[in-house]
Amino acid sequence: MNIIKVKDYTEMSQKAAAYIIDKVRVKPNLKLGLATGGTPIGTYQNLIKDHQEHGTSYQQVVTFNLDEYIGISSDHENSYRFYMNDHLFNHIDIPIGQTFIPNGNADNIEAECVRYEQLIQHYGGIDLQILGIGSNGHIGFNEPGTSFHSKTHVIDLAPSTIKANARFFSSLAEVPTKAITMGISTIMNSKEILLLVSGENKKEAMKKLSTGEISESFPASVLRNHSNVTIMVDQAAL
Ligand code: PGA
Repeated sequence: MNIIKVKDYTEMSQKAAAYIIDKVRVKPNLKLGLATGGTPIGTYQNLIKDHQEHGTSYQQVVTFNLDEYIGISSDHENSYRFYMNDHLFNHIDIPIGQTFIPNGNADNIEAECVRYEQLIQHYGGIDLQILGIGSNGHIGFNEPGTSFHSKTHVIDLAPSTIKANARFFSSLAEVPTKAITMGISTIMNSKEILLLVSGENKKEAMKKLSTGEISESFPASVLRNHSNVTIMVDQAAL
């Protein structure tokens, strides 16, 4: 794993955006895997700024998000579809039809998982996957105990995840308890992975990731088996 140490969240967001922009310039039809949560917001702001100032184009880019809640509509302000439109897609030139997120309101959720997995295959797989990490080691919404062989699937969110995400909702009771997530093997099939780790509350996770054993009880540890992972981590998380 290639570890890039940065000073703080601001520097991480600038460097992560520059990293993505380089890839898009080299391969304009990049298949880009995206993440939600607090961590990538600054990165997306920098992508927007660069698009406005330097005109980097996303017209041929295709994006796949890691996950989506089950049980809230896509126009709910806490759905990941809403988040992505609001934080990125509405501000760059990507055709919205090239932005894919699992449908957490599909009539047949199991069929939706299969469809999403096939969609990624159809586009030839993900070139660069952006990841955050949960303090319990989850990547996407693959909570501790998830099989390293998993494909896109339904997951019961861990109590700690529900609690952590409650900050985006008006009450704990409103946080969905289930989600669709790319599986661990789906993520591992990405040609390249960029993991962003920021803040003191990720310190323990960062330590386990770099020195702990590779185990399904700490999902992010699987990344040590991937041949092309870059971790951008700030001082607070070190
Ligand atoms: P965060 O979430 O970026 O909001 O800390 C990361 C995650 O849960 O994967």
